[in-house]
Amino acid sequence: MTMQSPLQQLVQRLDAAVASPRQKLPAAVTSALAEAMGAGEWLTAEQQRPSHDHYTRHVVYADPEDRYTIVSIAWGTGQQSPIHGHHTWCGVAVYSGTIIETLYESAGNNAPPRALRSMVREKGTLSFDADLTGAHRIANTARDVAVSIHIYGVGGARIATNVNRVLG
Ligand SMILES: [Fe+2]
Repeated sequence: MTMQSPLQQLVQRLDAAVASPRQKLPAAVTSALAEAMGAGEWLTAEQQRPSHDHYTRHVVYADPEDRYTIVSIAWGTGQQSPIHGHHTWCGVAVYSGTIIETLYESAGNNAPPRALRSMVREKGTLSFDADLTGAHRIANTARDVAVSIHIYGVGGARIATNVNRVLG
């Protein structure tokens, strides 16, 4: 019997999730992430490495068929994303530390987006965003580095350019 690593198990679950009917995708991705969060520490040190001046994205696994990519993001103290929406579905798990997610709505007429509410997302928190119209910002205001895992529904070559729709 071959022992699978937590990452290999996650990949196997995600391969099944993206092959399942579209309406089953959110639950399948979320349960795959839940299983991975229950598997202890498995990201490498490099995959959790923050930069001093900006949040840092590490590609953990890119599906060879370009159906999804697993990314880890390391958030140093005080670092945050721009306000953005997504061009694709996205599943998120907090791997370590605590992040703050703030949701925004468009205020129209070139006005800056309006903050709706903020949620504290602690280690182990899972979320799935199938809604391409919403916008959010993720920030780490705590003293420790936070690491989140993101599953995006695009291939690895498109992660930098085809995931985020930056609003401000
Ligand atoms: Fe996002």
